[in-house]
Amino acid sequence: MPARNHTKWKQVPGQLKAGEYVSSKIYSDEKIFKQEMNKIFSKVWVPVCHESELPEPDRFRTTTIAGVPILVVKDNEGKIHALANTSERRPSGKIEKEVGFLDVPDYLHCDVKFGGFVWVTLNENPPTMEEWVDGSFDCMKESLNAEPLDVFHYHKAIIPCNYKLWHDTNSEFYHDYLHFHNRVTGFNDSYFARENKCFNNGHVNVGSFEVQYDQYEGFESREELSFPYLPTNHWEMIDMFPGINFNLRGSALRVDVMTPLSPDKVMIEFRGLGLKSDTPEQRLIRQRHHNSIWGPFGRNLHEDLLAVTTQQGTMHNHAEERRILHGRHENNTIHDEVGMRHYYDEWGKWMNMNPSNPEEVYA
Ligand SMILES: [Fe+2]
Repeated sequence: MPARNHTKWKQVPGQLKAGEYVSSKIYSDEKIFKQEMNKIFSKVWVPVCHESELPEPDRFRTTTIAGVPILVVKDNEGKIHALANTSERRPSGKIEKEVGFLDVPDYLHCDVKFGGFVWVTLNENPPTMEEWVDGSFDCMKESLNAEPLDVFHYHKAIIPCNYKLWHDTNSEFYHDYLHFHNRVTGFNDSYFARENKCFNNGHVNVGSFEVQYDQYEGFESREELSFPYLPTNHWEMIDMFPGINFNLRGSALRVDVMTPLSPDKVMIEFRGLGLKSDTPEQRLIRQRHHNSIWGPFGRNLHEDLLAVTTQQGTMHNHAEERRILHGRHENNTIHDEVGMRHYYDEWGKWMNMNPSNPEEVYA
């Protein structure tokens, strides 16, 4: 194939169909970002924390959804509430009684579901959690609901990239070639047969397979501590619209929650969870399994963080418009971009905007 000249670089990829590419503008345009906050983030359910982070009455955590400060708190009966946060500046802690948060009448919709996550929405008339997730949790809900879970790892990262790029790195798997760990523990026939499955509201499952941890010299099998009902060493994954990821790898659950801060800045909260019933020895092993891949200095996570940062650099608001191609079709198997197409189609509906050309309405 001859090298492309400048005119060819600028052309819309003519051989691709609608929905098989998106414009780089949707990752960097300030006006589009504001619309995403109003049209998407202020309507969806967000798992703002886990119930184990609110272990007793009056314990709270704060966050924001679509720029709105939120506080979640446990009452004396053990029920968890969410409300608009008007005065608490700490990220977490215990409420002083005289502050009287719980007298504030305007509670937000809040539900504790799917392994004890505290889901909150600003939507005044939201779908139920079951309607919202559709069937996307079927792949792991037995494992998450079998017994109480506990957060054993938390870190957050503020990354100079658009939140959708973090979604993308969790959704498309051909970037697995970047991860030496994943190549040596995964690249076999059952890996390449993993199947992407799409659900209503833009959610996607990446099918499971058995990871060969012991192929990575110095690592061990995760057989003994695999989550309940999860086949030994299996790896289940849910990519939720518009940017939440549940990633269950044998003995450890990782959950990413994204809080977009600007078109080119996102805060990602990373939680690692195990079983509350763990002995101290089991907990240490689980933490090692989690952190050796996904901790800030693990084998895998920083590779993704660096990749998305450099991707964003090519899609600066003042850079020439580019197209990100999603045209790979392989019978929905692991490197088929069906999950990406499904996500951006959903995004287009919510935004009433064509992700391939943001000047046009969704068709
Ligand atoms: Fe990755």
